[in-house]
Amino acid sequence: MNKHRDILEELNKHAPLKEKIIAAHKSISRIFPFIARVAITIYDPETTLLKTYLHSSIDGNPLPHYQVPLDEAPSLKELAEKGLPRVINNLLTIEDSDNIHEHTRRIARSGFAASYTLPMFNNGVFIGFIFFNSYETDVFTEMVLEQIDVYSHIISLMVVNELASIQTLTAAIKTTGHITHLRDPETGSHMDRMSRYSRLIAISLADKHRLEDSYIEHIFMFSPLHDIGKIGIPDHILMKPGELDENEKVIMQSHTRKGCEMIDELLANFGLENVEYIDVLRNITKYHHESINGEGYPSGIKGEEIPLESRIVAVADVFDALTSSRPYKKAWSNEDAIATLKSMAGETLDQDCVNALIENMDQVELIQQQFKENSFG
Ligand code: C2E
Ligand code: SIN
Ligand code: SIN
Ligand code: FE
Ligand code: FE
Repeated sequence: MNKHRDILEELNKHAPLKEKIIAAHKSISRIFPFIARVAITIYDPETTLLKTYLHSSIDGNPLPHYQVPLDEAPSLKELAEKGLPRVINNLLTIEDSDNIHEHTRRIARSGFAASYTLPMFNNGVFIGFIFFNSYETDVFTEMVLEQIDVYSHIISLMVVNELASIQTLTAAIKTTGHITHLRDPETGSHMDRMSRYSRLIAISLADKHRLEDSYIEHIFMFSPLHDIGKIGIPDHILMKPGELDENEKVIMQSHTRKGCEMIDELLANFGLENVEYIDVLRNITKYHHESINGEGYPSGIKGEEIPLESRIVAVADVFDALTSSRPYKKAWSNEDAIATLKSMAGETLDQDCVNALIENMDQVELIQQQFKENSFG
């Protein structure tokens, strides 16, 4: 009898990406116990930011919620451009050098002595990096690297697969939006801004609520889909230049329930029900108009019964709705919008989420400059 066990058998199971990375790390450390951390950063081509996405570490994470423009990390940028990995077998000597970026210093300061960094590609397009860190110097020999490279490719495929599922879903939803009547306020720059406000709020709440970076990134990726259900609302209501009457309001409010039904249907059609954090998407579409005091819709749940991702997106959505023009209203100034958010905080909107946005107005303004309203609002 052959008793050999597949050292990667964990990867056959259906599990969230984070658990697969942890399983891969465990399996690597059986062969190379000195590898203390495996981390993944993903690259957002739209903002050129590199973001720490997932990690498996034997101790804490030295880079929580870290993001940096690729341009500010020239040595990493070079690896991405050339498609080459990099070995640093002694981070301790590097600490003194001037041209090393803050994140490498932080890695060194938390005791890591050596690192191996590989760029990840999908069909030739750069998607991010994998980092392997060790507390010991000089561990990444040629023999070790050859084996780690095999793991890296497996990890890279898992990441590509995960990102592809989400892109398929987003593309499917965008297509659905285009072939029907949905346009203007609910597409384009509104989505770009509100997804970034949502991430800003989530990052600012991360320590208090112990939020994982991957949860934050999924809020970012899924929040643009919050109003998908408006596809099912007739034009004469959606585009009405004036205030809605009671009857129209009821129809309009059905966009939350419709949205959730559409998501469930798309997930079933594309076989994506098992994508990680898919409940975050459901909660965002269904509950982004619930109120802290229980007077929202569609369910009338209150306070912390409302999922955190829904409370976060609600604040981002209202702020962007107020500061943008709509068929039924002009754009407000940031000051007026902030005053309204403050008056809604604790009653309709979550107090912490409102504070998080207001405390980061410098970054809100940067997002507004980067994603200006087009002629559609
Ligand atoms: P939306 O335009 O994306 O607005 C999202 C939310 O931002 C609104 O949810 C509301 O909470 C807030 N908001 C937007 N504009 C204002 C405003 O001028 N004043 C205040 N205090 N809050 C504002 P709500 O009310 O549940 O509306 C959901 C969606 O229904 C809106 O999405 C919009 O598409 C539509 N809608 C709401 N009111 C009207 C209206 O008077 N006329 C038309 N044509 N559509 C409306
Ligand atoms: C840099 O390019 O200076 C930062 C990237 C790194 O060295 O890890
Ligand atoms: C990271 O591990 O997330 C980046 C630090 C490095 O250059 O190894
Ligand atoms: Fe909505
Ligand atoms: Fe919206």
